[in-house]
Amino acid sequence: MDIIIRDHYEAMSDYATEVIAGYVKSKPDCVLGLATGGTPIGVYQRLIQMHQQGLDFSQVKTFNLDEYYGIGMDLEKPYNLDQSYARFMHEELFKHINIKKENIHIPNGLTKEPESYCQWYEKQIEKVGGIDLQLLGLGRDGHWGFNEPGSSLGSRTRLQALTEQTLDDNYEAFYKKSNIPKDQMPYFAITMGIGTILEARNILMIVNGAKKAEMVAKCLEGPITSQITASAIQLHSGRITVVLDKAAASQLQHSNHYVHVEKLKRDYGL
Ligand code: F6R
Repeated sequence: MDIIIRDHYEAMSDYATEVIAGYVKSKPDCVLGLATGGTPIGVYQRLIQMHQQGLDFSQVKTFNLDEYYGIGMDLEKPYNLDQSYARFMHEELFKHINIKKENIHIPNGLTKEPESYCQWYEKQIEKVGGIDLQLLGLGRDGHWGFNEPGSSLGSRTRLQALTEQTLDDNYEAFYKKSNIPKDQMPYFAITMGIGTILEARNILMIVNGAKKAEMVAKCLEGPITSQITASAIQLHSGRITVVLDKAAASQLQHSNHYVHVEKLKRDYGL
């Protein structure tokens, strides 16, 4: 695991953007797994800037981790629902870059048959040969996607009930400013499972802020447990890059070691 610690959010976003851009440049038809939320916004802004300077997304395929159930892409009017993750992705990234619409995959929160739909979503990932690089944030309850505490570490794409903490966080981040009452928020989501995420060949997790520091330490240095589903990162067999700002890294026991390893690898060109 490469654990990279940077002074602040901007520097964290710079580093993570370079990782993603590196994949796109070296494999122009790469498959990216993408996340929503506040954390990746800086990365998406930088990817847009890089696109303006020539970074080409015309062959890139993307799969998003999750979508609220009951809202989402209306197939007739694709991005008409303000709080859907489909809309978020469109506004924050897709409408600004030259990605092809048919190469974008976001779980359809409007499906009437979630079980068969989720199996279909998994098949689509399989059909393109799997995800090359999965971008991830970290929920305050330790979730990846919407894999809330208690989700099996082998779980697949499915319908998942959201915890109260996640509902509170989402309300603060997205719904409050639009004056949408809490009882009208979706209580379920479609999410890739932990087992699905672990099949991505490479993982890039970004986390910032003191509010997440305790969870970062538990996830990276604590025991692997379904109570902190992102702790499954310790089981991943591909290349793992975790980029943190100082505040998020502040409760790590071994941060000196991670800084030392990063320096060594840089010095030796690894
Ligand atoms: C969103 C997702 C979530 C977020 C997590 C952190 O697609 O998968 O797991 O990554 O809830 O959200 P922020 O970045 O808003 O703190």
